[in-house]
Amino acid sequence: MEGLLDARLRAVVTQVTHYDWCVTEFVRVTNMLLPARVYTRVAPELLAQSTTAGGVPLRVQLLGSDPACLADNADLLAQLHPAGIDLNFGCPAPTVNRHRGGAVLLDEPELLFEIVRSVSRALAGRVPFTAKMRLGVNDTGRAIEAAQALADGGAQMIVVHARTKADGYRPPAHWPWIARIAESVKVPVIANGEIWTVADYLRCRAESGLGDVMLGRGAVADPLLAERIRRHIRGEAATAPAQDWLQFAPLLAEYWRRVLGHVEARHAAGRLKQWLNLLRRTYPQAEALYQQLRPVRANEDIERILLAAIAPVQAKAA
Ligand SMILES: Cc1cc2nc3c(=O)[nH]c(=O)nc-3n(C[C@H](O)[C@H](O)[C@H](O)COP(=O)(O)O)c2cc1C
Repeated sequence: MEGLLDARLRAVVTQVTHYDWCVTEFVRVTNMLLPARVYTRVAPELLAQSTTAGGVPLRVQLLGSDPACLADNADLLAQLHPAGIDLNFGCPAPTVNRHRGGAVLLDEPELLFEIVRSVSRALAGRVPFTAKMRLGVNDTGRAIEAAQALADGGAQMIVVHARTKADGYRPPAHWPWIARIAESVKVPVIANGEIWTVADYLRCRAESGLGDVMLGRGAVADPLLAERIRRHIRGEAATAPAQDWLQFAPLLAEYWRRVLGHVEARHAAGRLKQWLNLLRRTYPQAEALYQQLRPVRANEDIERILLAAIAPVQAKAA
């Protein structure tokens, strides 16, 4: 997720829960063949068999509107052996949409078909190829047509974020729409949108008719969510978030180290606070730490407070 879930956070969250795969933030393709270094910057995992530090296969996402240029880029990217390539038709950001990228293309099923067919031909089955869509631009009028265009063009699987571009990220997600889309295409469909808890997963499954989901912000707010869902499916007892904190709080320190090694020092604190801001939805301990860190600016102070907060957790876990 652009600006939220990058290689640093992927490395950490995939160590606490297994996923079948994860996807990079989008790489925007305009009118040129991007050099390989652009891809390895967004997805350094490409230099490690396209696998995260937690052992989860990583797919790389492209965003654009030029069928030939996307095909050329997909061809180059395939030579870097990603675990898959995904096309983004869901981004609602005005700057991206102004340049005819992301969700705004959902009004043009013919173009969706051209793009997907062109990329599919270029890939010729070398890597798994998926597409991600929303339900439409301003309304759901062309949702089925758009999904069929993606499937007919050659996407092997479609992830449906059950909101229109106009819906932004506002709840609810319209899960019954995913059922309608799944019925209208011959490829597997994955449900996405507004799954923060096991209860949300169960409602999404009931309303979409699909058991396979993609987690977005929920995976950041609760890195153990996928594991909680699996436990529930296996009929195992649920564990309490306050207890689960013990399992991954030490990874906050690893995340901090990774962030310091990568971003400019003045942006580091913001990244940690951004993650804690979502974690506090789930974990009371994260709320306490967030409140402690919120007014703090200097990285040395952030580090001191962070390490002090997780030291008792590490001692208990040892
Ligand atoms: C900050 C932010 C950045 C995102 N960046 C991307 C992106 O680069 N590619 C993508 O396919 N979806 C992106 N998304 C959308 C999420 O992947 C997901 O489809 C959406 O948030 C709905 O799922 P959720 O309600 O579980 O978060 C982003 C969402 C947010 C909030």
